[in-house]
Amino acid sequence: MLVFVPPHPLIKHWVSVLRNEQTPSPIFRNAMAELGRLLMYEASRDWLPMVTGEIQSPMGVASVEFIDPREPVAVIPILRAGLALAEHASSILPATKTYHLGISRDEETLQPTIYLNKLPDTFPEGSRVFVVDPMLATGGTIVASLQLIKERGVENQQIKVISAVAAPPALQKLSEKFPGLHVYTGIIDPTVNDKGFIVPGLGDAGDRSFA
Ligand code: PRP
Repeated sequence: MLVFVPPHPLIKHWVSVLRNEQTPSPIFRNAMAELGRLLMYEASRDWLPMVTGEIQSPMGVASVEFIDPREPVAVIPILRAGLALAEHASSILPATKTYHLGISRDEETLQPTIYLNKLPDTFPEGSRVFVVDPMLATGGTIVASLQLIKERGVENQQIKVISAVAAPPALQKLSEKFPGLHVYTGIIDPTVNDKGFIVPGLGDAGDRSFA
């Protein structure tokens, strides 16, 4: 498994805005969306199939390259907080399908419960899949998500996970269970506390975005 923390000043900036407990909800959501845009830019680098051709510009014929619209690309936000991170992440890609997964973590047991599954029965062959969830804490949620996706015909190498903050327990589980996976995150934090929150982290991303 490879974990990328792109060393970009804008990524550091938006992570810092998210960390601030004084950041109000609309600005928090906007920061999350901007971070998602930047992480998707990095994650899609060299990963989207291109098609070449020629096009007539007003001044002459030009060789051009477009992202091949025939190749399937899926964005899977993990509700709720993933909706904020995926807002621009999905719109910067020219042709994607969005499949929603709703998963919530029990506050006591920290076990994930799937309450919404809009995944297709099978993903089209060769699909490239971006899974978008701001926090990888104990890892229960992302592992449950990836298991559902893999059951539908997707290999680890076809999946990229995009998150705002990742913690060692989640990264450990992902590397054990999904070799070949790529993870893009704004930052890696050192610990998860006994309530399942990343420390220092950014708090409850779902509540801070929507409650
Ligand atoms: C949070 C977060 C992740 C999950 C991470 O979601 O957005 O999905 O917890 O925790 P884990 O790695 O320990 O499983 P939450 O269940 O709070 O739902 P929400 O997005 O609706 O707030």
